Amino acid sequence: MNGAPARGVPGFDDLDLDWLRARGSVKWHRPEPDVLPAWVADMDFPTPPPVVAALHEAVDRRDLGYPDWPDGSPLRTAFAKRMAERYGWAAPAHRVREQTDLIQCLQLVLHLATSDGDAVAVQVPNYPPFLATLRTMNRRIVPIPMEDTDDGWRMDLAALDTAVKRSACRALVLVNPHNPTGRVLTYDELTELAAIARRHDLLVISDEIHAELAYAPHRHIPFASLSDDAARRTVTLTSATKAFNLAAIRCAVMHYGPDRLLALRDAQPPDLYGTVSPLGVIATLAAWEHGDAWQRDLSTVLDRNRRRVHDMVRDRLPQVRHHLPEATYLAWLDTRPLGLTEPPVEKVLRDGRVLLDGGDPFGPHAEGFLRLNFATSQQVLGEILGRVTEALGGQER
Ligand SMILES: Cc1ncc(COP(=O)(O)O)c(C=O)c1O
Repeated sequence: MNGAPARGVPGFDDLDLDWLRARGSVKWHRPEPDVLPAWVADMDFPTPPPVVAALHEAVDRRDLGYPDWPDGSPLRTAFAKRMAERYGWAAPAHRVREQTDLIQCLQLVLHLATSDGDAVAVQVPNYPPFLATLRTMNRRIVPIPMEDTDDGWRMDLAALDTAVKRSACRALVLVNPHNPTGRVLTYDELTELAAIARRHDLLVISDEIHAELAYAPHRHIPFASLSDDAARRTVTLTSATKAFNLAAIRCAVMHYGPDRLLALRDAQPPDLYGTVSPLGVIATLAAWEHGDAWQRDLSTVLDRNRRRVHDMVRDRLPQVRHHLPEATYLAWLDTRPLGLTEPPVEKVLRDGRVLLDGGDPFGPHAEGFLRLNFATSQQVLGEILGRVTEALGGQER
């Protein structure tokens, strides 16, 4: 950890439990009052001050009429600017379209670009609503394993090459940085992936929602920025909601690389997939344009917390496998070596009164895993880690 003062970071480490429990959002609202939640990917930190100020300002103006956006919302140029500044990617603003959230973005692109019964490659484990989407839409899942190696999680690119060939698959859902393992693919890995995509003429649907949560020295590289060919075959999905803790604002962007898909999108009835709320746009713009100082503090806190989780596992649950995440605030813990006779998520809830996400919904071979959300204050995290280690029979300090 570099730079977090011993007493904690103001605005992040001074969370009030009564305030957390009184929140209406699902993370704290659903569990029973004696349970500490470390499940769903929402952070416990209050909304960034610049976002609160921008929303207040709009409401105080009493100005909630129809927006005047004949050429699309201001998100289009704001997205292009952010990509250029952060990643050196010259993403043309005219290729950006607004949607409410990333699950909708994925469903839309699958709807436009693939058909019933088509094969779609996807990393496993994966964000459960993405796997559920593929099943509901009756797309054949072609699972691409994330492999646990001594050097960390690796996406099995050779398996991708073979599986795509065998299944006549034409689309890949790429989650990078990856939920739940926290892997950030390197330039070399992405380049190899781009070569495979080119060889098999794959459409790449690239979910980059965790991009701004990468820890140095790991560096996010937008897939579409790799080459002209990658740009032409990639639809990029993102939003400010993960990195600025704004899940409820329901505002996301899609950047369409393929001309044909953009034309298909624009040929749809304009409101069929809904339109974004101006308040969502205001919040996103405030986050992107004025939220960087808040995000720097956030990253100090999360970096400290990820190391704390990692150290706890190493020292008190040495049989549990865990790799320090390279991005995100999610720890992916393999408890199978403990030989438990019940799902660990149930044991931790019953014996430790902590609600985590169990591995099962994340795909095949993930039962026995736990996903722990460490985006909380040092005090709450300390309590969570103490309870979890005890419930799993951890060693004394
Ligand atoms: C990889 C990934 N994609 C998408 C989402 C959800 O995004 P949204 O709330 O915009 O649907 C999440 C939420 O945790 C996620 O981890």
